[in-house]
Amino acid sequence: MTDLVVHDAAQVANPTDDGEMVTFRDGAVAIEDGVVTAIGSTEEVTRDHPPENATDAVDAAGRTVLPGFVDPHTHAAFAGDRADEFTAKLAGADYQDILAEGGGILRTVRATRDASRDQLVENLLAQLDVMLAHGTTTAEVKSGYGLDVETEVKMLEAIDEAAGRHPIDVVPTFMGAHAVPEDTAPEEYVDRVVEEQLPVVAKHDLAEFCDVFCEAGVFSVDQSRRVLEAGVEQGLTPKIHADEFERLGGSQLAADIGATSADHLLQSTEADITALGEANVTPVLLPGTAFSLAADYADAPAFEGADVPVAIATDFNPNCYSQSMEFTIELACNGMRMTPSSALRSATVTAANAIDRTDGLGTLREGSPGDLVVADVPDYQHLPYNFGVQNVQTVVKNGEVVHN
Ligand code: NIG
Ligand code: FE
Repeated sequence: MTDLVVHDAAQVANPTDDGEMVTFRDGAVAIEDGVVTAIGSTEEVTRDHPPENATDAVDAAGRTVLPGFVDPHTHAAFAGDRADEFTAKLAGADYQDILAEGGGILRTVRATRDASRDQLVENLLAQLDVMLAHGTTTAEVKSGYGLDVETEVKMLEAIDEAAGRHPIDVVPTFMGAHAVPEDTAPEEYVDRVVEEQLPVVAKHDLAEFCDVFCEAGVFSVDQSRRVLEAGVEQGLTPKIHADEFERLGGSQLAADIGATSADHLLQSTEADITALGEANVTPVLLPGTAFSLAADYADAPAFEGADVPVAIATDFNPNCYSQSMEFTIELACNGMRMTPSSALRSATVTAANAIDRTDGLGTLREGSPGDLVVADVPDYQHLPYNFGVQNVQTVVKNGEVVHN
């Protein structure tokens, strides 16, 4: 029996692997056993899958159906917030200075160490609810606010437990190398990440990816390489925070070791973009971070001009406090000058590449995951055009209505 039929959509807009946006009017999608079994005109689809015989049906009249959004870069598990730092930054304080003085990431580390595992689970579940309401159906979530083996494991266990209790598919990333703990020499801390943290994370299968903050004043290219190579040895796939404030060489490292993604890339040059493209590393641009730091955006047109498709992500964290992929898509257009169709592709198909998903995640076709959003807009262009409001109304995960 059909689990769900979504019918009479004003438009179905479907970004595909080859960069095309396929759209049609009066569209419908049928989902069975969690995967898409039919997509096409309402007439065709409902002939084989009558809504009255399905477990559930959504009348999408006047609304647009899109694949569920994939958010491939978040730090959504943490305790506390940094609203006062937001105010200080607006008055001129600098992100890197705040970190160097023991605030920023290190402040969230103190709050996260003090929190119980259950508190972290409850916090993350609340954040996932907001993400879902804005259309995210798959999200990567990083550790990295522990910086010691106990707290990194506590975070990853909390991520795992929240994932099991929430409709969003959560992809866990170990990021012990997110900052250097206070009163510790960087090299000594890298030893701990490699010798203490990684083996425990790998042994208990707590993460799929390993990430590192390759940045001036945080981890050098050599230190980042050490962490990521040790991760590969333990079965974790590399990702990297690269070229955000300074062009240290993180993109080149990502290309060299075959990382799945390189993220931020505000300072990346043409040579970096070419290297990422040739090595098949998915660039992940984070317009919310640039927006909240009032920094220049990553040069999305340069990536597109070089024929290197980018993913976009929220980077949701206490410094970039937005859970919304809708807003990220709006910023990709209004800030980074991407077209609505390329921004939506970046939030779906290419975002799935950034987390190594090859099962059709991020696109709607026969056999792909039954994850979709129904937005209260007449066509996909209206989603970023009508910014700052909640356009997403109904969210479907594996053929089940999980938000309405
Ligand atoms: O991707 N740049 C490093 N990590 C995060 C920020 C984390 C934080 O400030 O708490 C990022 O922007
Ligand atoms: Fe990040």
